[in-house]
Amino acid sequence: MRIVRRIPELRSLVRSWRAQRLTVSLVPTMGNLHEGHLALVKVAREHGDRVVTSLFVNPTQFGAGEDYATYPQSLEIDCAQLRALAVDAVFAPAVQEMYPAGIMGHTQVDVPALSGILCGAFRPGHFTGVATVVAKLLNVVQPDSAVFGRKDYQQLLVIRRLVADLDLPVRVIGMPTVREPDGLARSSRNAYLKPSQRALAPELFRTLTALRQALFEGESNFRLLEARGSKMLMDAGMRPEYVAIRRGADLREPCRDDLELVVLAAAWLGEARLIDNVEVSLN
Ligand code: PAJ
Repeated sequence: MRIVRRIPELRSLVRSWRAQRLTVSLVPTMGNLHEGHLALVKVAREHGDRVVTSLFVNPTQFGAGEDYATYPQSLEIDCAQLRALAVDAVFAPAVQEMYPAGIMGHTQVDVPALSGILCGAFRPGHFTGVATVVAKLLNVVQPDSAVFGRKDYQQLLVIRRLVADLDLPVRVIGMPTVREPDGLARSSRNAYLKPSQRALAPELFRTLTALRQALFEGESNFRLLEARGSKMLMDAGMRPEYVAIRRGADLREPCRDDLELVVLAAAWLGEARLIDNVEVSLN
């Protein structure tokens, strides 16, 4: 497994694969890998002859006062896990390599239809940072496919939209959320939870599944359900930012006859901002 720090080196490695007519799959991450990330890598392994995983804590997607400086990093353990999954190259660039002109004033990719709502409303600039770095990674690697998690549902839609709007020749693959046995979605940020908070955290997924159940049973007053969800989270000791029932395709507010929905929530539990979602097909 090659550990690559520089863009020209990665480009020439990918070029050598392309010369052999090998296909390439990319898994972008911010490192500190867990089973959720590794599931994406395994799928990439099935889709590409060669797999590249990027490990880059992208400063432009963190807002002022967010956890950029303390975001957990574990390069050596990450590389050992990726080596065990037969990843071909790890791309772990320095910030200077990705943003040589600095993290202010560089060209940005914005997906305005999606970047200001839900998580974007609470994290201004976040999805522009995500879209920009993902566009850069897709341009550097030029993979045939790129694999992302549905845990970050809004992020996945942002990426699908940028790929469509910029005509990027890549297949975007979205994989189901990997969970702990008690339902909590795996996340690097779960490490911020104290043991007592960790015991409460599965209430987020429980709340979402309760709302999904109500939708299955025919409840169609979405506002009422959202309010019920927020109350459940507050009763469990969380500080919800939002609980929202939206259309799965574009995260717009659904009408009664929309059949593909997603229930999404973001909530603070101590120092951790947790997000999760469940998809609901009423067919
Ligand atoms: P990161 O949070 O490291 O996540 C990397 C990828 O793993 C994302 O596609 C995310 O959706 C997926 N993922 C995380 N937890 C998961 C889980 N429990 N189950 C399934 N997939 C999971 O998301 C980012 O990094 C960044 O925003 C990035 C796209 C790399 C751009 O900087």
